[in-house]
Amino acid sequence: MAVQINDAYIELLNQGVSREIQVSLQYLLQHCKMEKILRKVRAENILLDKTTYETIAKDLKDFGIQEMKHAAKIIERIYFLGGKATTKGAKVNVGEGLKDFAKNDFKAEEEALILYRKVIEEARKIGDMETYDDFIKIYSDEEKHLFRFQELLTIDDKEPPEIEPESKHFRAVFTDDYLALLNKGVAGEISAIIQYTNQHEKANWLTLRKLETPLEVIEDKNKAKVVSELLKKVFMVEMQHLEMIAERIYRVKGEAVAVPDPLPQVGENADDFLKLDHKAEDDAIMLYRGIVAEALKRDDTVTRRLFEKIIDDEESHYWGFDDFF
Ligand SMILES: [Fe+2]
Ligand SMILES: [Fe+2]
Ligand SMILES: [Fe+2]
Ligand SMILES: [Fe+2]
Repeated sequence: MAVQINDAYIELLNQGVSREIQVSLQYLLQHCKMEKILRKVRAENILLDKTTYETIAKDLKDFGIQEMKHAAKIIERIYFLGGKATTKGAKVNVGEGLKDFAKNDFKAEEEALILYRKVIEEARKIGDMETYDDFIKIYSDEEKHLFRFQELLTIDDKEPPEIEPESKHFRAVFTDDYLALLNKGVAGEISAIIQYTNQHEKANWLTLRKLETPLEVIEDKNKAKVVSELLKKVFMVEMQHLEMIAERIYRVKGEAVAVPDPLPQVGENADDFLKLDHKAEDDAIMLYRGIVAEALKRDDTVTRRLFEKIIDDEESHYWGFDDFF
């Protein structure tokens, strides 16, 4: 071991993972929710082809992806130090409108800066220079986020009131139980994103530990490495799914959930990952088939097509994992 690591130090790094998972989901869901807000403000800005809201929506998505990369970076470091990276995110605070978003996000970034100053300090103290370096870079991203949200705090945000339209017959299909069913999709995608991101980093670490056969040494490759590369591709697709489903829910005026279900499971080695992920994809396909059937029953063509497209992806993930058995 290059440096002396204790449990409290790993726990400190895991606090970072938890809050990165939180803000990543928070910003991505806010990005999706902008869809709902945009429709109200468009009427007032009908002559502009772009409103401030669109610019902010884009920032939220970019930041959300950046935060997931931060989470991955910290998870990677935890495994390298011999620790166990958490899959538990801190509580997500989405909020109702732009003012809420700015307030919640500013607060989250402020907390991040406080926590990361502590991490940087500790890392320097014990001479863990790699972690020190990682967190200096992450800190600088968070500070940029903080300033961006600070600007948003001062935006004069008077959202026009909701006007109940008279023609809304087709919208009657979006009942609470139907939205709850779509939300199972959101919860499943969140679970997959966290599970695959964590496993991807753990597989990277296993790759370095375990080149066993001569062929593996020569090729500088083993099963863990192949699985790690596959997982990276897959979890990026799951992020798109999360966005697609959440946007649909907000578009029909529902509210997306922000907690994973089932709870993400990591496993110990590449074979565990494959077994767990194979099952996760199988569950997703079954759930989405149910949603397609329900959408068909309700003549909700847009949702049906959306989930048919997602099933295509999940099936290809399923076979991708299946190839290893
Ligand atoms: Fe971050
Ligand atoms: Fe941030
Ligand atoms: Fe998915
Ligand atoms: Fe998938």
